[in-house]
Amino acid sequence: MMNKIKTGIAGLDEMLGGGLIEGRPYLIAGGPGAGKTILAMEFLIEGTRNREKGLYISLEESAGQLREDMALFGWNLDLIKIVDTTQELSLDKWLIKSNSVMSKPEFTLQNLVKVIEEKLNTYDPKRIVIDSITSIRLLYENKSDMRREILSLMNFLSRSGCTTLITSETGTDYETSKILMEEFLASGVIKLHSIERRGEIINAIGIEKIRGSDFDRHLRPMKISDEGIVIFPNETVFE
Ligand SMILES: Nc1ncnc2c1ncn2[C@@H]1O[C@H](COP(=O)(O)OP(=O)(O)OP(=O)(O)O)[C@@H](O)[C@H]1O
Ligand SMILES: [Mg+2]
Repeated sequence: MMNKIKTGIAGLDEMLGGGLIEGRPYLIAGGPGAGKTILAMEFLIEGTRNREKGLYISLEESAGQLREDMALFGWNLDLIKIVDTTQELSLDKWLIKSNSVMSKPEFTLQNLVKVIEEKLNTYDPKRIVIDSITSIRLLYENKSDMRREILSLMNFLSRSGCTTLITSETGTDYETSKILMEEFLASGVIKLHSIERRGEIINAIGIEKIRGSDFDRHLRPMKISDEGIVIFPNETVFE
């Protein structure tokens, strides 16, 4: 029997029939400001409630900025290790800020995997976030190289035993947001949508796929509050 773990996001665990199957990589896709980062951090916070450590790989925001953004929610980030990257403009290099083994290795997928591996050994996290995979896509010019490398990242994450959320940037529009290759490679895909209804923007969440489990196939309304993400699993978006 596969073990399910709670995301800790009110309403989402209900939609997932209890939670996410442990030890697999999932994609959280959505447009700018959709709530991907907040949702991902809340998932790590839920782990810390059971004393499980979390590893947050922040490829777009600096650790300091991320802490600042999350301060509003009053979460305790003590059991969460944030690894971020930096652009060294003088060297024209993009580096991973890692204070151990290698000092500031160049940002490549191989080096990122090495840094995660090292954190698995020294820090022993149970949950991982990679925010976002769109930064990793930028490393590749060739589509088939990108697919192979992202698949190998997903396989590495599956072998790690950690449950991983990977954020992915898409268009905002429910109808036109195109399907990205990583959505096929992940074990599950959860999408955050903005829907225009009578001049008002409504946020909604929908589960597109979860391998190995049934799930709620309706779009459900979602809000960002001072407490984090709130989902209304018994309400519908389109009347
Ligand atoms: N306390 C709050 N109450 C309501 N909305 C909030 C609150 N805090 C943040 N937000 C909203 O959350 C959004 C930012 O969420 P988040 O950073 O998770 O988005 P994102 O999907 O990661 O965006 P990006 O693609 O830019 O990284 C903003 O649109 C902001 O207005
Ligand atoms: Mg974000």
